Order: sequence, then structure tokens, then C-alpha cells
Amino acid sequence: MNIRNAEPHDVPAILDLYNRAVRETTAAWTTREETLDDRLTWFEARKSQGLPVIVAVGSDDEVLGFASYGPFRPKEGYRLTAEHTIYVDPEVQKQGIGRGLLARLLEIAGVHGIHVLVGVVDSDNKASIALHEKLGFEKTGHMPQVGTKFGRWLNLVFLTKVLSPMEPPER
Ligand SMILES: CC(C)(COP(=O)(O)OP(=O)(O)OC[C@H]1O[C@@H](n2cnc3c(N)ncnc32)[C@H](O)[C@@H]1OP(=O)(O)O)[C@@H](O)C(=O)NCCC(=O)NCCS
Repeated sequence: MNIRNAEPHDVPAILDLYNRAVRETTAAWTTREETLDDRLTWFEARKSQGLPVIVAVGSDDEVLGFASYGPFRPKEGYRLTAEHTIYVDPEVQKQGIGRGLLARLLEIAGVHGIHVLVGVVDSDNKASIALHEKLGFEKTGHMPQVGTKFGRWLNLVFLTKVLSPMEPPER
């Protein structure tokens, strides 16, 4: 397994992973699958803002998973905090790919001066919570029943990691 920056030709595979998660999981709290245009627009927006989109690939360069981060909230006071997402192909989960992707995102975030990374997940998403806790994230928020999908209430869990101690900027 290799991890590299995503290229435009990876976007269809990224789209397939995302849409499968929409259909089968509560990783994304929506039932609306995206189109290729939606994902290309997202990809170009991330790239143009200097935000990372990375993929884990197998021996034939096939996409096994992807990860990215973007703004946590729009107001400038949140500019040193980013929210990330990670999706691994269900056929190859539990083989260390999610760990590899999150570890690489942490490195990239550190280099770009991000102070806090935030993962926002369904409280029943044991795999994601385990992955984050193994990489030093803490559960710092829990909001019961703020979402719904598949005929049940969903609880939102915030997992945060302070990347490096630093003085706050002057403004
Ligand atoms: C969450 C997700 C990214 C994890 O990816 P993965 O490649 O399966 O995870 P890894 O194999 O790297 O496992 C990382 C750690 O979490 C643990 N873990 C993974 N799945 C687990 C599970 N279902 N239950 C308990 N622990 C689990 C592993 O044991 C591993 O710990 P270790 O490194 O000490 O052995 C993957 O399940 C996924 O894509 N889920 C759907 C999308 C999603 O929910 N994304 C998260 C929203 S941000």
C-alpha cells in the first residue's frame, strides 16, 4: 500500500467509495449520492485552496481509500482548525489503511500550521472511533439524537487532536 496525493483520474474511484458509504453506512448523514461533477468540483475546490486530498493505492495503483480535510467552520477565528474525513474500501478495511491515511493527514496538517484536527462521526461508528483514539484523538463532544438515517436517531461525536502546543495568534 502506498499513499500519495490524489489526481483527477482518481476522482471516479473516490466517488464510488463515497457513494457506497452513503448507501450502506452512517459515515455521511445523507442518502443523496453524488455525481462525478459534484466530486470533481469538490476536488478542484480543495486543490485550489491548497487543501490535501490523498489516496491509499494498491500494487496496481488502484484506490483503496481516500482522506482529506477542509475548514471546520467558515469564520476566520476557526482558521487553524480543520475537519477531516477518511473512507476505506469495505473489502480492505481493518488492514491498516485508515491508520496510514490519518497518520499522513496529521503530518500534512502539522506542516501547514493546522492547530487542531476534528473528526465528526456517528457514535455507533466503532471503527472510526477506535482509529481516532489509537492516533491520539480524544472524544471531546457528544450530541445525542442530532441526526437521523435508516429510521434511527444518530448521535454526533467530536474527536479532536491538538497537533502542537503553540501560543494563540494575536488576532
Ligand atoms: C473508519 C475507517 C476509515 C477505518 O479504516 P480501516 O482501514 O479499517 O482502519 P485500520 O485497519 O487502519 O484500523 C485502525 C485501528 O482501528 C482499529 N479498528 C478498525 N476497525 C475497528 C472496528 N470495527 N472495531 C474496533 N477497532 C477497529 C484497528 O484495530 C486499528 O488499531 P491497530 O492499528 O492498533 O490495530 C473505515 O472503517 C471506513 O472507511 N469506514 C467507513 C467510512 C467512515 O466511517 N469514515 C469515518 C468518518 S471520518
